[in-house]
Amino acid sequence: MLEVREIHTFYGLSHILFGVSLSVPPGRVVCLLGRNGAGKTTTLKSILGLAPPARGKILWNGEEIQREPAFLRARRGIGYVPDDRRIFADLTVGENLDIAAREGPGTVRWDKDKVYELFPALRAMDRRKGGLLSGGEQKMLAIARALMTNPLLLLLDEPTEGLAPLLVQSLGERIRRLKELGLTVLLAEQNIRFTLGLSDYGYVIDNGRIRCEGPVAELMENEDVRRFCGL
Ligand SMILES: Nc1ncnc2c1ncn2[C@@H]1O[C@H](COP(=O)(O)OP(=O)(O)OP(=O)(O)O)[C@@H](O)[C@H]1O
Ligand SMILES: [Mg+2]
Repeated sequence: MLEVREIHTFYGLSHILFGVSLSVPPGRVVCLLGRNGAGKTTTLKSILGLAPPARGKILWNGEEIQREPAFLRARRGIGYVPDDRRIFADLTVGENLDIAAREGPGTVRWDKDKVYELFPALRAMDRRKGGLLSGGEQKMLAIARALMTNPLLLLLDEPTEGLAPLLVQSLGERIRRLKELGLTVLLAEQNIRFTLGLSDYGYVIDNGRIRCEGPVAELMENEDVRRFCGL
């Protein structure tokens, strides 16, 4: 579904990604593991077009999209949940979802009712202002909002960051459910334990380079991975 080939991405003159390649087959949960500053967010932004790569290719079902603006990539069905959530603080939970709603290409057909089934806690907060939600609730809302665009692929940037252990577990169950429903996910994470049992395959990024890849269970056994993930 998605193939990233040898991309090099810069912020101004700073060279951040050095030939990153990865592939995400349909229906899979693939993770991108790495510690702070490794280049996870930059990789997701390169895929979406918010930090377009200077070199390399991004293929969406075989078609080159690396020169397309972000809104066109989003329209193709690439959904994005940024690490800083960016929900609308002054809108209610329901309104946050309503304004995100779009006829995307995804096969699940998400609407408000369906996302509330996935996140029952949000249903109870339908009329609460987004800014009054806890950090964990805002994370759920950010995911719910991305689902409302009916994506084929969801780019999830460090969803567990700052979450209490119980919420991490419940988030894991939701992502597993999304996978059962056929959604494809690329998950950027530092928490390798969270991705174990959730993710089919992982890539480890460090200093803007992919250092190793493999099934997550195998990666966990790997000394280098421990080092690159700071385990
Ligand atoms: N807008 C920017 N301008 C310049 N440098 C940036 C910018 N954003 C990120 N960087 C640098 O790019 C490198 C990779 O950052 P990135 O945010 O992709 O890492 P990350 O793996 O997502 O880290 P974290 O786990 O902290 O979110 C870092 O060295 C960071 O300082
Ligand atoms: Mg990041």
